[in-house]
Amino acid sequence: MPPAVADLLQTLPHDAHPLDALRTAVSLAATRDPDARSNEPDANLAKAFRLMTLVPETVAAWQRIRTGRAAVSTAAATSHAAYFLELLEGRAPSREVARVLDLVLTLHADHELNASTFAARVGVATLTDLHAAIVAAVATLKGPRHGGANEDVLAMLLEIGEPSRAESYIEARLGARAGLSKHERGNPRVRVPGFGHRVYRVDDARARVLRGMAKSMAEATGRQQLFEVAERVYDAMRARTTLPVNVDFFSAVVYDALGIPPDFCTSIFAVGRIAGWCAHALEQYADNRLIRPRADYIGSAPRPLAADQRRRMETSIASSSKS
Ligand SMILES: CC(C)(COP(=O)(O)OP(=O)(O)OC[C@H]1O[C@@H](n2cnc3c(N)ncnc32)[C@H](O)[C@@H]1OP(=O)(O)O)[C@@H](O)C(=O)NCCC(=O)NCCS
Repeated sequence: MPPAVADLLQTLPHDAHPLDALRTAVSLAATRDPDARSNEPDANLAKAFRLMTLVPETVAAWQRIRTGRAAVSTAAATSHAAYFLELLEGRAPSREVARVLDLVLTLHADHELNASTFAARVGVATLTDLHAAIVAAVATLKGPRHGGANEDVLAMLLEIGEPSRAESYIEARLGARAGLSKHERGNPRVRVPGFGHRVYRVDDARARVLRGMAKSMAEATGRQQLFEVAERVYDAMRARTTLPVNVDFFSAVVYDALGIPPDFCTSIFAVGRIAGWCAHALEQYADNRLIRPRADYIGSAPRPLAADQRRRMETSIASSSKS
């Protein structure tokens, strides 16, 4: 981590969202990168490796700083996941915990043209620099329709608390949609995070693997109750909707078992996804064309200005030409 980035993290307000801290850190790191002025393949590969280290280092450092602890460094670790956990906890993780996080990071590493990866590709297609494209990706990941759903899931499961409350909670949350307009139904607060997908119509294959991990991790850490809540939510959604479960649902239970708080979940997603973002970016640089979709205008046909609009426009032109 460039010292300037470490200093920057000390200046951020402790209630800053972890993804805002990460996005800002990547942006600053762009100006300190040894290859800042090069977009050559070797330079971009070197930047990709540096970003794959910077992201876990920043995420871990920010979690410690915002919880009143000093950031730590470590010389070596047995794996990338173990390195991150050691930076996070200040001590080496058990083999089992490192293995679980390694699997989680691998499952999150890439997922075709999801929104954040697409944002990175759009950036790269303009031939902007790799850090700038990754800033766009982190910014896009944060939204509750994408990676942000991860933290909403854990917050929801903790709010439900008791398995016996899951059914009525889901009933109420889905029931709250009745009578709302289409626009109002788009509000994340009247959706159930962890369900639905822009592409999949069946359960995400990764969710099955994560469910198994969530179960064993919850048993190992005494957090079975939260896993049970998740199971009841899953059943309640199955009984009431055809929405498939997505990757963010059971991963939230795994994060809880790892001691990760809700607003930190999406940062773990970023620690895994930085590999995919960089791989897509390098591919786009290597075989590039500007990404520029067309818009199909479906608004009102051209029409004359109403008399009062014309008067306002004329007054505004007259006053700006005087000044
Ligand atoms: C991911 C997501 C944005 C995909 O959306 P989409 O395929 O474009 O579907 P739409 O947003 O058009 O929704 C289609 C319908 O299903 C409903 N719906 C979609 N996901 C829903 C959810 N999680 N809970 C309740 N209703 C949902 C929508 O409200 C809409 O119903 P309506 O037409 O009556 O308003 C959407 O499923 C969602 O918001 N999920 C929750 C957030 C989440 O888990 N994101 C992570 C994705 S990996």
